[in-house]
Amino acid sequence: MANSLDGTVALVTGASSGIGEATARALASQGAKIAVAARRLERLERLASEIGGQGHTALAIQSDATDQEQAIAAVDRTVDELGRLDIVVNNAGQMLLGPIENAPTEEWDRMIDLNLKGLINTTHAAVPHLLAAVEDSERGCADVVNISSVAGRIARAGSGVYNLTKHGVGAFSESFRQEFAGRRIRSTIIEPGAVDTELSDHIRDGIREQVRERFADIEMLAAADVADTIAYAVTRPWHVSLNEILIRPTEQQG
Ligand SMILES: NC(=O)c1ccc[n+]([C@@H]2O[C@H](COP(=O)([O-])OP(=O)(O)OC[C@H]3O[C@@H](n4cnc5c(N)ncnc54)[C@H](OP(=O)(O)O)[C@@H]3O)[C@@H](O)[C@H]2O)c1
Repeated sequence: MANSLDGTVALVTGASSGIGEATARALASQGAKIAVAARRLERLERLASEIGGQGHTALAIQSDATDQEQAIAAVDRTVDELGRLDIVVNNAGQMLLGPIENAPTEEWDRMIDLNLKGLINTTHAAVPHLLAAVEDSERGCADVVNISSVAGRIARAGSGVYNLTKHGVGAFSESFRQEFAGRRIRSTIIEPGAVDTELSDHIRDGIREQVRERFADIEMLAAADVADTIAYAVTRPWHVSLNEILIRPTEQQG
């Protein structure tokens, strides 16, 4: 039996586009109050007002998750303004693909700072609030949902540091799961294949075209497909923990 999210509060990072934006909509429609965080405030405000217009509650928080203080502040503002924190969706991420040889290493720093450090700093700041939410909720649990990737399970030439970060997300999530299992914070790793979002826009010229070519002939996932999966995971009864979900477009081979 699915639980409604009425009375809960969720923080979704990277919610100004793509999977994060769709997840904010999906969780709001289940009754959660939503804090949406990212750098592009205008897009967050537009989303928050759309969600608000549907009778739900959303708070836009401008935050660069690569900055530890801003990552912590996003968690604090969520709790201060929405009253609690039950669900964190660590979704903000960058995928700056390309060969290791001659790579601009500032791209590596950006992925490590966001995909890994942003995620662990947000999670660290959220833990006390999630534990409080377990004690103070009818659901009897709290959730950390970490967005990894197929690239967190399978490494390929040309995506070495993205693979590194997403494998790291998987390892951290499983360690977190074991540490908090007895205290009922669930840990869910979501591993999407190709999703039709802005993610590949940021890949450098020359590489971007090759990446897009790989998926040119298949029907990619929509961000809403992944959001549905996240909403399903966090609406299970407290004793059911979906730890790892690999979700590909049907036609995607690798
Ligand atoms: N699309 C795919 O095929 C795919 C497949 C597997 C996994 N994923 C993962 O899914 C997650 C979401 O990606 P997406 O596909 O939805 O792409 P997207 O539309 O590009 O979304 C990325 C989000 O991350 C935010 N972001 C980027 N840098 C940030 C920073 N420094 N601080 C805070 N937020 C930041 C962006 O917002 P701002 O620019 O406004 O900050 C945006 O909201 C990522 O972790 C990605 O690795 C995607």
